[in-house]
Amino acid sequence: MIGENERWILSFYRTSEISGSLFFGRLAKSLKPGSIQHDMTKHYADEAMHAWYWTDCLNKLGVEPLELGNAYQDQYLSAAGMPVNIMEILAITQVFERRVINQYAVHSRAAGVHALVKKTIDRIVEDEKWHIKWIRDALKGMEAEYGKNTIDGTIERFLQADREVYEKTVREHEERVRELLRT
Ligand SMILES: [Fe+2]
Ligand SMILES: [Fe+2]
Repeated sequence: MIGENERWILSFYRTSEISGSLFFGRLAKSLKPGSIQHDMTKHYADEAMHAWYWTDCLNKLGVEPLELGNAYQDQYLSAAGMPVNIMEILAITQVFERRVINQYAVHSRAAGVHALVKKTIDRIVEDEKWHIKWIRDALKGMEAEYGKNTIDGTIERFLQADREVYEKTVREHEERVRELLRT
């Protein structure tokens, strides 16, 4: 019911959601109690559900997910450097979540997107909007500690890394994503 390119892309999303969940899950385990721990716990649970939605969606479309290597976000760390504190972790996450929501928007507008894929994206995007919001609020709350300029500068640094990684990914997988980006 779906082509190999779309199967690959949905599998790519699935892998990325799993990596996000594991990353935030580990973080949620190590954080001290408070509002960030609270929201981070919901965040990692959401990402785990997203991985499940894609798994289920692929199965309902009659295929198994592909086993893919590194997730998209693994490349962030080599492009931008390891975040050194919780503010930097939230800043890189903010940038990543914006990329995710944009990518899902592009995909959901693509010509001929399957109704089930569109439904899955719409369901996920509702959570992703909240991810961006809680992190934005948490970063705002850190301005007194880290300084607004430092936070803005950190986001800018990660935005540059994000553009590099995204362009590199699109180049590497041009054949597969061309259908989506044509719209
Ligand atoms: Fe997600
Ligand atoms: Fe997210």
